[in-house]
Amino acid sequence: MVGQEVLVRQLIDAVGPQVVADPEVVASYTTDWTGRFVGGSPAVVRPTTTEQVAALVETCRDLGVPLVPQGGNTGLVGGSVPLHDEVVLSLRRLDGLEPVDSLAGQVTAGAGVSIGQLHAAADDAGWSYGIDLGSRESATVGGTVATNAGGIHMIRHGDTRAQLLGVEAVLGTGAVVSHLGGLLKDNTGYHLPSLLCGSEGTLGVVTAARLRLVPAPARRTTAIVAVGSIDAAVSAATGYRRSLTVLEACELFLQPGLELVCRTQHLASPFADPHAAYLLVEVADHTDPTGDLAAATDAAHGVEEVVVATDPSRRADLWRFREAHTEAINSLGPPHKLDVTVPAGAMVQFIEAVPAVVNARAPAARTWLFGHLGDGNIHVNVTGVDPDDDRVDAAVFELVAEHGGSISAEHGIGTAKRRYLHLSRTPAEIEAFRAVKRSLDPDGVLNPNVLLPAAD
Ligand code: FAD
Ligand code: MLT
Ligand code: ZN
Repeated sequence: MVGQEVLVRQLIDAVGPQVVADPEVVASYTTDWTGRFVGGSPAVVRPTTTEQVAALVETCRDLGVPLVPQGGNTGLVGGSVPLHDEVVLSLRRLDGLEPVDSLAGQVTAGAGVSIGQLHAAADDAGWSYGIDLGSRESATVGGTVATNAGGIHMIRHGDTRAQLLGVEAVLGTGAVVSHLGGLLKDNTGYHLPSLLCGSEGTLGVVTAARLRLVPAPARRTTAIVAVGSIDAAVSAATGYRRSLTVLEACELFLQPGLELVCRTQHLASPFADPHAAYLLVEVADHTDPTGDLAAATDAAHGVEEVVVATDPSRRADLWRFREAHTEAINSLGPPHKLDVTVPAGAMVQFIEAVPAVVNARAPAARTWLFGHLGDGNIHVNVTGVDPDDDRVDAAVFELVAEHGGSISAEHGIGTAKRRYLHLSRTPAEIEAFRAVKRSLDPDGVLNPNVLLPAAD
């Protein structure tokens, strides 16, 4: 490995003044959003073109220096920060956004475009983008492709992979692959966008993406439905999924989470009395969908109270009770964020079992449960545990595996879960992953400490 000064000089020779070694600037790229994962790096490189990304990857390959690609750094599994002294490759300056192709309902966006910017551009063109998430103002197109982000509207529009018609990327070999034509039907071999999507920067650096847009419904209604038990919440979620073709979101939170959000965000609860669980339900259509939502809510069992909003500002107020969970929990100290899925039939049992499983390993820990119940995705957050102590993580992931679930629903594996991948993937699958990695990144330059378990 070359020394830092020589390395920085060689990086500057390859890509120019986009290389930053000032420790203060570098430090702003080395801690993750939660504060749980803190690393260090000899340099941050902030290219503005795909050619510069390719030159950087080739140089790092020649020097045997690994890279960590980084977008908005909102990832929650420790995959976007240099925990082993890697060079940080920030993609935020690849922020070109082509005009929306209104005829096709598609757009080509640079990796550094934020999801918020994408929404604004799609809205201006009379379309919408199917992925939305609480980190929208910072999370980037490249990062959401790399993690195959899910988010709050996945129940209607699918995950990021379902929006992805093409990518431009620099592979670990330094080769640039680009297929941004946007044809809806195109059966010409391996689908590289699908492979790169969810690969967490281990196979290629995404520099641009061609994304499908979805219709923009004129009318939207949001409700928070208070129910008396987890069982009632799970049954109601199924009822909404079965009866509402216009269902856009079906999100869960519990009374302790609501109280924490209200306390830390200085909000008044929407309900006078406490309830066991809450579903935030959103419907959207070209005509007013409020009646359909009311009928589906009437048909649900165990509903105790409901608040409904149709105007944008009141709807945003209701969303805060759900979306502010991430920030509220973080205010208690860096949490362990365990984003998991379990099958519908195991959901109630899983949710009820988790707190005791956590406390058996860490008696003083606190468990917070919320998430995208409509997709079977629960965010198990645990506070009051040291960042490096992952006995609780292991216990929860084992419980997930026992229930036939997955250890990552939408955040990815990162560094946080790589040693648990075997709980969701067979040895043959992991070996196939390694073969793909060797083929597209033969020298292990791209995020070598992410996703795949360490070789030993
Ligand atoms: P980063 O955090 O910078 O990187 C994430 C991973 O992608 C890393 O492994 C990194 O190396 C890799 N990467 C980044 N850019 C590239 C690139 N151009 N090419 C190749 N690899 C790259 N996630 C959800 O799925 N659903 C949610 O609802 C959701 N809500 C969130 C709410 C909040 C408040 C926060 C803080 C996070 C939330 N997240 C959610 C997690 C996070 O926003 C997503 O994982 C997002 O996709 C990360 O995008 P990013 O640009 O910040 O990527
Ligand atoms: C969410 O659904 O709010 C996000 O995935 C972020 C989190 O898990 O905290
Ligand atoms: Zn989520």
